[in-house]
Amino acid sequence: MPENVREEAAAAQEQTSRFVSQYAPATPEADAPPAEPIFDVRDVAVFYGEHRAVTDITLELRRNQITALIGPSGCGKSTFIRCLNRMNDLIQSARVEGEVIYHDQDLYDDRIDPVQVRKRIGMVFQKPNPFPKSIYDNIAFGPRVVGMKGDMDEIVESALRRAVLWDDVKDRLKTNAFGMSGGQQQRLCIARALATDPDVLLMDEPCSALDPISTGRIEDLMLELKSNYSIVIVTHNMQQAARVSNMTAFFTVELDAGEKHRTGRVVEFAATDKIFTNPDDKRTEDYVTGKVG
Ligand SMILES: Nc1ncnc2c1ncn2[C@@H]1O[C@H](COP(=O)(O)OP(=O)(O)OP(=O)(O)O)[C@@H](O)[C@H]1O
Ligand SMILES: [Mg+2]
Repeated sequence: MPENVREEAAAAQEQTSRFVSQYAPATPEADAPPAEPIFDVRDVAVFYGEHRAVTDITLELRRNQITALIGPSGCGKSTFIRCLNRMNDLIQSARVEGEVIYHDQDLYDDRIDPVQVRKRIGMVFQKPNPFPKSIYDNIAFGPRVVGMKGDMDEIVESALRRAVLWDDVKDRLKTNAFGMSGGQQQRLCIARALATDPDVLLMDEPCSALDPISTGRIEDLMLELKSNYSIVIVTHNMQQAARVSNMTAFFTVELDAGEKHRTGRVVEFAATDKIFTNPDDKRTEDYVTGKVG
């Protein structure tokens, strides 16, 4: 091989490995057996009135994994994540078609109580939204609503410890949650979601209102929590998806067949390192390399 070609090949190789290590998967689990599925989502579509907002969503979400949902604004990431704990029930015009199987049970079966669903599948939103109550009462709220048994002080302490917030707040549990910083408020919301002992945590852009240091702390927390929970995160931050997630679903939004409405769908769902380094679909590649979106 001529010298200059060899040099070029070596440079290209180095660039690729730099890119791969920058976007290294959160955990290299190539040899591990596939984790147990928590959600089996089959052919889900969501309508707002007549408008089909997302369609044809089929995904499996597994235990102890972080799954990132990425894609341009309006492609239905929030609409979809809300299907996973029946939050769309609270939007009058919304209708969900298809099946969301959670631990072998149809989440939308008439016999399922949505309050119990939200106990097991917690949600954290874009903007920290503590209740105008004390730190203690924010955490105790959910366990009281679902009638959890046990010593409430212990329940509160345990949730705050799991969210790595206990040391920050243990001396001011009875003070108003609004006195906390934005990053602390978001960890309080995570603690609040953890207080009812969920097995899944849904996070819709949980860091978009936070500074980089608070964002880093939430990412560290997610990596810690995934040994006990399954996490689904919506994010516009590509580095964040690459840093924390095991699996990534890339959504896009296109005009539907009648060319009237824009409908979101999943273009590609795969291991995060594949999505970021070697995606199958050109649209995924363009999005993750910042050419569109
Ligand atoms: N409550 C609602 N009522 C009616 N239409 C809605 C509602 N929520 C979302 N939509 C519509 O559904 C589509 C998908 O919106 P959604 O908020 O799920 O997208 P997204 O991917 O989360 O966007 P973003 O990245 O901006 O948060 C959009 O066309 C939006 O206008
Ligand atoms: Mg959204």
